[in-house]
Parts: sequence; structure tokens; C-alpha cells
Amino acid sequence: MTRLLQAGGPGEPAIAEAAALLAAGGLVAFPTETVYGLGADGLNPEAVARIYAAKGRPATNPVILHVADVAQAQALVTHWPAEAQRLAERFWPGPLTLVLPAADTVPAIVRAGGPSVALRCPAHPVALALIRAVGRPLAAPSANRSQHLSPTCAAHVASSLGEAVDLILDAGPTSSGLESTILDLSVPGVRPRILRPGPIPPAELEALLGPVDLWRGAVAPGAIQAAPGMAERHYAPRAQLRLVAPGTGIRSLGGRTAYVALGALPPLPAGILGVLLPLDPEQVGIRLYALLHELDEAGFERVFMEQPPDTEAWLAVRDRLGRASAKETA
Ligand code: TXA
Ligand code: MG
Repeated sequence: MTRLLQAGGPGEPAIAEAAALLAAGGLVAFPTETVYGLGADGLNPEAVARIYAAKGRPATNPVILHVADVAQAQALVTHWPAEAQRLAERFWPGPLTLVLPAADTVPAIVRAGGPSVALRCPAHPVALALIRAVGRPLAAPSANRSQHLSPTCAAHVASSLGEAVDLILDAGPTSSGLESTILDLSVPGVRPRILRPGPIPPAELEALLGPVDLWRGAVAPGAIQAAPGMAERHYAPRAQLRLVAPGTGIRSLGGRTAYVALGALPPLPAGILGVLLPLDPEQVGIRLYALLHELDEAGFERVFMEQPPDTEAWLAVRDRLGRASAKETA
């Protein structure tokens, strides 16, 4: 059985035990405000290698270093631009990851051999207490097998990673539900670029920085990843997910089928489970992964979900739905 300890914040025995495991090169899953992370000492290459093995993550996909404050972030980069300072003052701790030129102290395996490092200061008392107790940045991707759904509670971590993780710190469901917004500031003189939309929308970044670019590519499987981690199929449930225009008539194709509606549930054929989510991007963001996990657990084979409106407020949800419904290519 995977060990699981309830955790709330600094000073607890659970935090001390987790910190000792991390300092010894172990893997500890911990909560953040977005999703649970699979943590290791970010300056210990052997420990970070265990993350890749546990997740089945390709070596071409770098991991985020989690820090407790700006000073810890500054020690990991060759250059801390004024934009980074302004963003950190406004959004840290919070769901914003900054990609910056890496200092030599950042192990190559953290960067997947590249020149930059992704840094984030999570807004969760357990995550912050853990980073402070270890006294080093924690490498932590989402605590799930590569390509699968991200975990928004401890049970998701246990069912995805099982024995591969030494300890899970459990602080209940996460509050924001979708992974952090990733902003690339690593190339001087080039406009900041959103690599992954997330809880912090482009307009809030632009209010602070002026225009930012949105990267809309997908990387073919096996290709060297110029903007890594952006494989077309990602964040995927076991069930086959199909996005449909709201109001599309659907029929049962056999197998257990669910229909996820936004705002109002249309009449459905017998045998199809209707699920109603509010027409509210923040609420859908919070509940999306947990819902898909539940449908998987309950053995649903097909999930139809209404495509959300094509507006900026829905950008992060639409991004994850697009990846979760992409065809299996490998
Ligand atoms: O909310 C989050 O960001 C969660 C929690 C645990 O902090 N973490 C997370 O990590 O989602 P992960 O590894 O599942 O996704 C991180 C993404 C990957 O797509 C990876 O390719 C990208 O960040 N990334 C990491 N380092 C990068 C770098 N140096 N340049 C560009 N992208 C990078
Ligand atoms: Mg992930």
C-alpha cells in the first residue's frame, strides 16, 4: 500500500517526514492549488530521474521547479527580468509558471537538456511548507502517469502511480483544478509567450506586460519538443471523449455512455447518463478532471461533452478538452 498522510501546513510531523524522504532522494506527492505534484529534490538528478521512471515520462519533457519565494527562484536563473519581478509580485504564490534562462545549478535532467527552466511558486500551505522544510526547490510534474489525467485529489494519485511514490500528502481536493498557466520569458527581446493556458487568463498577463503571444502548436509524438510537454494527446481519460456542438442529437453506440452538458441538460436517449456542469469556466476547470476520473472509475466507455464557447475565458478548459479528446497516435 502507498503511504498516505493527512497534511495541513507548516510544523506538522507529516511535513517533516515528507521532507526527510525528499532529502534522501525519495518521491513525495503533494497538493498544490492546481493539481497534485509528484515531488523530488530538484537539485538531485537521481531523484528527478525517479520522477521520469514513475510517470513513464519521455526524457524530452522537462519538469517545473517549485520554489517558496522569489529569492529561491532568482538563484536558479542567469537572468531575472523586470517582467518576472512584476509577474511574481502580482501572481506568486499562484498558478503561474515562468520559463527563464537556467543557471548551471539546475540539473540537465530537470531542463530535459535545454537552456531554460520552468519555475512556479504554488499557493498551497502544504506545498510551501514542504519546500521550506527541504530548503531546496522541488521538481514536480503532475502526479499521474504520462499522458493521463492530472490528479485533483490524493486518491487519483494513488490509483495512477501506486507503489511508484513513497508517500502521498493528502490535503483534500485542489481548489483550482487545471494546471498552471505557463509563460515563456526565456528569450530576451522576444514577446512573452503563453506555452500552456491555465487559471491566469491572457488578459491579466497583458494588463501587466502588454501584448503576449499564444502558442498554439502541438508536438508530434517522438519529436524533439521545442515547446515541450505539448503533445497533442495529453490529459486523457480512458474513456473515449468526443466534443460535440451543444444541442447535437446523440444516440447510444453501445457501451456505457455519458453526455456532459454545459448550462442545461437536453433530453437524452434512454441509457445515456446526463451530467450537468454550470456554464462557468472556473467551475468547469475545478470539476473537469474529477468528473473524468469518476466516469473512468465507473467504467464509462464513451463521453460526449459539449464544446464550450470559443471565448478567452474558456481557453484553458478548451485546451485540456482538445488534448483529452485527441486521437491516440502512438
Ligand atoms: O500546475 C502545475 O503546473 C502542476 C503543479 C504540480 O505545479 N504541474 C504540472 O507539471 O502541470 P507538468 O510536468 O505536468 O507540466 C509542466 C509543463 C510540461 O508541459 C512541460 O513540458 C513544461 O511545463 N515545461 C517544463 N519546463 C519547461 C521549459 N524549460 N520550457 C518549456 N516548457 C517547460
Ligand atoms: Mg502533467
